[in-house]
Amino acid sequence: MTTTTTAAIVEAAGAAFTLAEVDLAEPRPDEVLVRIVAAGLCHTDLGVAAGAQPFPLPGVLGHEGAGVVEAVGSAVTSVAAGDRVLLSFTSCGGCANCRDGHPAYCATWLPANLLGGRRADGSATITRAGQPVGGHFFGQSSFARHAVVDERSVVKVAPDAPLDLLAPLGCGVQTGAGAIWNVLRPRPGATLLVTGAGAVGLSAVMAARLSPAARIVAVDRVAGRLKLAEELGATDTVDTSGADLAEAIADLTGGRGVDGLVETTGNAGVLQAGIGVLAARGAAVIVGAPAFGTAVPVDVNHMLGGRTVTGLTLGDSETQTLIPVLAGLVTAGRLPIDRLIRHYAFEDIQQAVADIVAGDAVKPVLRF
Ligand SMILES: NC(=O)c1ccc[n+]([C@@H]2O[C@H](COP(=O)([O-])OP(=O)(O)OC[C@H]3O[C@@H](n4cnc5c(N)ncnc54)[C@H](O)[C@@H]3O)[C@@H](O)[C@H]2O)c1
Ligand SMILES: [Zn+2]
Ligand SMILES: [Zn+2]
Repeated sequence: MTTTTTAAIVEAAGAAFTLAEVDLAEPRPDEVLVRIVAAGLCHTDLGVAAGAQPFPLPGVLGHEGAGVVEAVGSAVTSVAAGDRVLLSFTSCGGCANCRDGHPAYCATWLPANLLGGRRADGSATITRAGQPVGGHFFGQSSFARHAVVDERSVVKVAPDAPLDLLAPLGCGVQTGAGAIWNVLRPRPGATLLVTGAGAVGLSAVMAARLSPAARIVAVDRVAGRLKLAEELGATDTVDTSGADLAEAIADLTGGRGVDGLVETTGNAGVLQAGIGVLAARGAAVIVGAPAFGTAVPVDVNHMLGGRTVTGLTLGDSETQTLIPVLAGLVTAGRLPIDRLIRHYAFEDIQQAVADIVAGDAVKPVLRF
C-alpha cells in the first residue's frame, strides 16, 4: 500500500523548497516506513538543490532525519513499529569496505546516497501523480512527513530519545566527531587544528574536548563562531579575516605545527595552509567539499616527514556503533550540540535555508 504524505520538493536546480503531496512506495522487505519528527538541514542538501550534483530533480532531499517507525518490511530485524530512530547514510552491507566496517566507503556510496535518486534496481521510492520523483537521498529523503528508508540507514535509539535534538547526528555531527575519533585518534597532549567553525567543525571541537588532545585551535572568519568554538572547547582561535593562518599557527606552536588538521571550510587555500602547518607525523583530514575538480598543490618534500592527507566521508562511521554512542553523550550533556541547533517548523524550510546561507543558523533542525 502506498502512503500519501507532504514533502518539501525542489522542482529544478536553483528552485526553492515547496511543500507538495507525494506518494511513497510500499516498503520493500529491507525497507522501513518512518514518520519523520525532525530533520537537520546540511550544506549538501543546498548544494544538490542548487544543481551542483546530478541528482534527479524534481526531488526530495533531507539526510538528517529522525522519527518513529510506522511499518517494517518482511526482512527487517533491527527495528519494529513504534521504535524511535535516527536516519543516516545507506550502504550495501556486502562489499569489501562494508564487510570491513567502513560503510561510508561502500562501493555503491555515490549512486545509493547522493546521485541516483532511486533504489539500486532503478525503481522510485517517491512518485507524484504516477511520475517518479528523485528520492532515496541518503537512503531516506527525510524532508517529508513520512519516508521509506533503507534498513541500513536506520539506527534505533532510546524510547525517550529527544529526536529534534539528535537529528543532526546522522551527518554533520558524526562527520566532525568521526574525524577526531575514527581518523586522527589524537595522542595525549596533541595539538589539533579545526578550520571552519560550522556544524561539522564545532562537532569536531566538541569531540576533541572528549579526547586527550591538549590544544584545540579553531579557525573561522566569523567572530561569533569563534566565540562559540571557545565555549565548546577550543583552547585557541584564529580569525582569518584579520590574520594569516600559517603565521598564526607558527606563533601559537612555537614553529612546531599541529599534529592533526580537520578542514571543514571547503576552501582550497585554507586546506593548503593547513597541510603546510602539519608537524612531523601530522595528519590532515579533508571534510569540506569544494567544487568538483578542485586541486591543491602539496609540497612533496614537506610530506616526507611522515605527514598524511586523508579525505573523509561521514566520519568513516559505522553508524550502528557510533550514532548510539553520540546519542548517549548528547543526552548526558557531554556533547552539547543544542548550542548549534535552531528549530524551525517544517513549513518554514525556506527560512531555515535563508538563515544557514546567511550564516545566522549553524544547524537548522525542522520540526514536523
Ligand atoms: N565529507 C563529508 O562527509 C561531509 C559531511 C558533511 C558536510 N560536509 C561538508 O563540510 C563542510 C562544512 O559543513 P558545515 O555544515 O560545517 O558548514 P558551515 O558553513 O556551517 O561551516 C563552514 C565554516 O567555515 C567557515 N569558513 C568558510 N571559508 C572560510 C575561510 N576562508 N577561512 C575561515 N573560515 C572559513 C565559515 O565561516 C563557516 O563557519 C561543507 O563543505 C559540507 O558540504 C562534508
Ligand atoms: Zn550532510
Ligand atoms: Zn557496500
